[in-house]
Amino acid sequence: MSKPPQAEIVPTHTPTLFAEAVKRAAELLRAGEVVALPTETVYGLAANALDPVAVAKIFQIKGRPSHNPIIVHVADLALAKRCAAAWPALADQLARAFWPGPLTLVLPRAADIPAIVTADGSTVGVRWPGHPFIQAVIRECGFPLAAPSANRSNRLSPTNAEHVRQQLGDRLRLIVDGGQAQVGIESTVLDLATSPPRVLRPGMIHEASLAAVIGPLGHSQLSIGNRQLEMGNSKGALRSPGQLLKHYAPQARLLVLNWRDEGDLKSQISNLRFDPTRTQVIAHRQIPSGEGFVGVSVLPHDAAAFARSLYAELHRCDAAGVAVIVVEALPDAPEWRGIGDRLRRAATE
Ligand code: TXA
Ligand code: MG
Repeated sequence: MSKPPQAEIVPTHTPTLFAEAVKRAAELLRAGEVVALPTETVYGLAANALDPVAVAKIFQIKGRPSHNPIIVHVADLALAKRCAAAWPALADQLARAFWPGPLTLVLPRAADIPAIVTADGSTVGVRWPGHPFIQAVIRECGFPLAAPSANRSNRLSPTNAEHVRQQLGDRLRLIVDGGQAQVGIESTVLDLATSPPRVLRPGMIHEASLAAVIGPLGHSQLSIGNRQLEMGNSKGALRSPGQLLKHYAPQARLLVLNWRDEGDLKSQISNLRFDPTRTQVIAHRQIPSGEGFVGVSVLPHDAAAFARSLYAELHRCDAAGVAVIVVEALPDAPEWRGIGDRLRRAATE
């Protein structure tokens, strides 16, 4: 059997390459194709958000369940307003404070947005991303782009072009290389269709920053979503399927531990009956020597820098065939909550 054709990865690091890549991506998108593009959070799998046939290809390529809605990406406020049936004052305040950037606003869906994008729901998630490449493509196309993270469903999001190639290289024609994603975890999703607004998925724009702009938020639905999942009700009823507990997971078993020192870490691992020689440690404060482990990755003890490198580290562990990843517990502070959320999901069996 012949191997399926592999996606072409195109660079963007000079003005000429950038302009050529914008043209190629826009051509494919106008023709109803799906293209992998960089954003500042994670790489996205983009299609014309106004074309239901093109959006259907995204679901197929990812193996994504049809009940999980897709975020629509815009590159100016006028386009954002065209995606929503109503534009509350809160949306204006948030857009002024955080766009372009890693914040998705859930708003009533405009009639122009096909039902497949929103999984038949009455709301649409809208984001103006900060990465110059996707902004240029949206401006060139003149239509909004529907784009989930460019990974197979339930797998780890990609933070560089090579991650996309590994998971989807045989299902795409074009992957645009826009460098390492600068935020590193997916956007904060904020529901503005309820009052008060509430966070559906935490991210690097945390609740305290949001509350400083728009006042107190409602209770997050995360715990409710997880309870529904435990009760076996994982379909339809969820406000945001990204709340499903198991998500964003590496192939390896992942656990989060707190340790006093190396001896303490080793005895915890042995009590859990894990094989240290198949275990990779990711640490940021109490750094073990690495002796007896596959290796120790040291990430910065700074939330933004930690988020930027975390997924690449997890992808590396998977590529190396590590059985267990032990991550040092995170500080209990608002700026770490989005990262803590992803680790909790990754740790779910
Ligand atoms: O940073 C990001 O948000 C990246 C980049 C590519 O923009 N995208 C991303 O998309 O993470 P995805 O599909 O992997 O995750 C989108 C999340 C899911 O949890 C989905 O359920 C939720 O947003 N979502 C999308 N539209 C929604 C809606 N109308 N109502 C509630 N949740 C929604
Ligand atoms: Mg995703």
